[in-house]
Amino acid sequence: MTKLEEKPVEALSTDEAQLELEQLAQVLADANRAYHTDDSPDLSDADYDRLKRRNLAIEERFPELKLDNSVSEQVGGPLAEGFSKITHAQRMLSLGNAFSDEDVSDFDARIRKYLGLDDTAALSFTAEPKIDGLSLSLRYEIGQLIYAATRGDGEVGENVTANARMIASIPQHLSGAPEILEVRGEVYMSHADFEALNKAQAKSGQKTFANPRNAAAGSLRQLDSEITRSRPLKFFAYAWGVTSAPLAETQFDAIARLKVLGFETNDLTKRCNGPTELVAHYTEIAERRAALGYDIDGVVYKVDDLALQARLGFRSTTPRWAIAHKFPAELAWTRLEAIEIQVGRTGALSPVARLQPVTVGGVVVSNATLHNEDYIAGRDAKGNPIRDGKDIRAGDMVQIYRAGDVIPKVADVDLSKRPEGAEPFLFPKVCPECGSEAVREEGDAVRRCTGGLICPAQAVEKLKHFVSRAAFDIEGLGAKQVEAFYKDEQLPIKEPSDIFTLQTRDAEQLAKLKNRDGWGEKSVTNLFAAIDEKRSISLNRVIFALGLRHVGESAANLLANHYLGWAQFEAAMVEAADENSPAWEELIGIDGVGAVMARSLTSSFAQDQERAAIDRLIAQLNVKDMPKRDMSGSPVAGKTLVFTGTLEKMTRAEAKARAEALGAKVSGSVSAKTDLLIAGPGAGSKAKKAADLGVDTIDEDAWIELIEGA
Ligand code: IVH
Repeated sequence: MTKLEEKPVEALSTDEAQLELEQLAQVLADANRAYHTDDSPDLSDADYDRLKRRNLAIEERFPELKLDNSVSEQVGGPLAEGFSKITHAQRMLSLGNAFSDEDVSDFDARIRKYLGLDDTAALSFTAEPKIDGLSLSLRYEIGQLIYAATRGDGEVGENVTANARMIASIPQHLSGAPEILEVRGEVYMSHADFEALNKAQAKSGQKTFANPRNAAAGSLRQLDSEITRSRPLKFFAYAWGVTSAPLAETQFDAIARLKVLGFETNDLTKRCNGPTELVAHYTEIAERRAALGYDIDGVVYKVDDLALQARLGFRSTTPRWAIAHKFPAELAWTRLEAIEIQVGRTGALSPVARLQPVTVGGVVVSNATLHNEDYIAGRDAKGNPIRDGKDIRAGDMVQIYRAGDVIPKVADVDLSKRPEGAEPFLFPKVCPECGSEAVREEGDAVRRCTGGLICPAQAVEKLKHFVSRAAFDIEGLGAKQVEAFYKDEQLPIKEPSDIFTLQTRDAEQLAKLKNRDGWGEKSVTNLFAAIDEKRSISLNRVIFALGLRHVGESAANLLANHYLGWAQFEAAMVEAADENSPAWEELIGIDGVGAVMARSLTSSFAQDQERAAIDRLIAQLNVKDMPKRDMSGSPVAGKTLVFTGTLEKMTRAEAKARAEALGAKVSGSVSAKTDLLIAGPGAGSKAKKAADLGVDTIDEDAWIELIEGA
């Protein structure tokens, strides 16, 4: 490369600085491409670093000249997988599931209860097929397609704009649309196109796809958009994100509007009045399923009135106003070859059925869950018989049940086909991985290894969970790699904090790493960069990554959004160990946190070894506070509210959710800390106490007026 003329930064004129920044941008971009994309670095690491430092020094002296796409803000050049990331302006959510008619009635009843509607009040829904593809968000500004992003983890997706432009059913321009409009829908491939594609792929000796969904995903996530162009992808629009003006007043009309704007929408979308009509439409769609020509895996129901949708809002990852009614599971019979025990992250001993491979609903299944020891023995947790008390033994013919993407399970056994000499399964009383005692606590269906972190299976599973997508998601450090590092005698990773100290280990061993199978100099550099990139990480991911029992992704989000920062969260978990403390009340007062989860949290923080491992991890990180939502328009942000008496226009649940969404804390009792009491008719002692303490008190109408428009 040409060596740039290097004047001291202090001596540069503005014009020289500008010129040099432009040259540096070019040189560094070329170097990045050579390194990451073409796999042929043309600049030594030392030169690259020197140029990057100089670029930064010039930018610091002339901040106004900093280029929009400055390399100093890029981490390690283009992302390894090749797509840049897009943060969704509005999160892309998933849907709760219904599996039975009863679940559908419950969905209706839940909504009525939340909104305070009685059984006779009208409440209509839309019902439409649930397309089995992958979701995509399209952003249009002033009628132009600006970008297309995959769902990713719901917050951040991949930028697949160039590829989306290749899909015929995605309009590039819209006329008559709101100035800002994010259209959301599903990219999918029809059965006919899928078969033709697989045939062509096989003929040219290329990879074939297992099903249309995989084919659609593989075709959309192509680095070369010319390949995407050659793939027959389609797009159905069924939802939207940010809009500068409402599309319509109802879901049904909003979808009709999207159709007028040029999107394909699903013709089977229907407006239904209540659960009976919903289920009738579900049955009709199920009957037509085989002839549709594309895969669907259920029917989605959405509250039709968009004002009601807005009132209902969201739980942490799913809307309250929509649900997916899944099609029933598929069944098949096969031979159970063996029962094996897997030890999970929390020590649970889970029996797994190893099966003679069998196709269930188009997917080959060779493993299925057997739940727990009672299930194998043919009884439920209370000791009542299940499957008429038939137990399950290695060698049996068993029925496999698979519902959508849920793990298949062993549902039944055919005793007439039981081989002679088949023995009842003896569930182990010690951990098969570490030999520690495995105990079953009163009321727990699961037997657990008591080995804690000395149990290699638990430790490895914790690590795998730690690096998983919704947790730390470290590029190049997946389940396979952490498992290998765990076993590595020289460079072990035994617990999460070890990931972050890897770079500081013995230089000799690190040098050896670079020569090990599959680890070139470059992949080690990339790995360390990827690890460093995740030192700064948001609180919700850290809480989820800890892998505590009962604390899944949505619980972690709830906790993070409640406590906002690590220090507050940690202090609260320690204080809440005392179940008479206000901290405990606060913890279980979070909507979605119950006593069982709360105890799991507090006991982890009270357990010395676990606590020490958490501390070692946190010392390596910069845990980012949760973004404070923009509450500038909220009249109650940061205030503590108490509701009492009867609310007549809104249920307690809605009032609480609305208050919390506006950044208020809702408490059950009045104290000196209360900022505002909202008292409906019949308010008693709380109103009196508020009056005694001089706490402001308003009625429900004043409350509604206060939050209206906020
Ligand atoms: S509505 C806020 N409608 O199902 C709700 N989703 O399990 C947004 N999907 O991530 C989703 N067909 O990828 C909706 N007609 C439909 C759908 C649909 C397929 C997918 C979508 C979503 C997933 C949730």
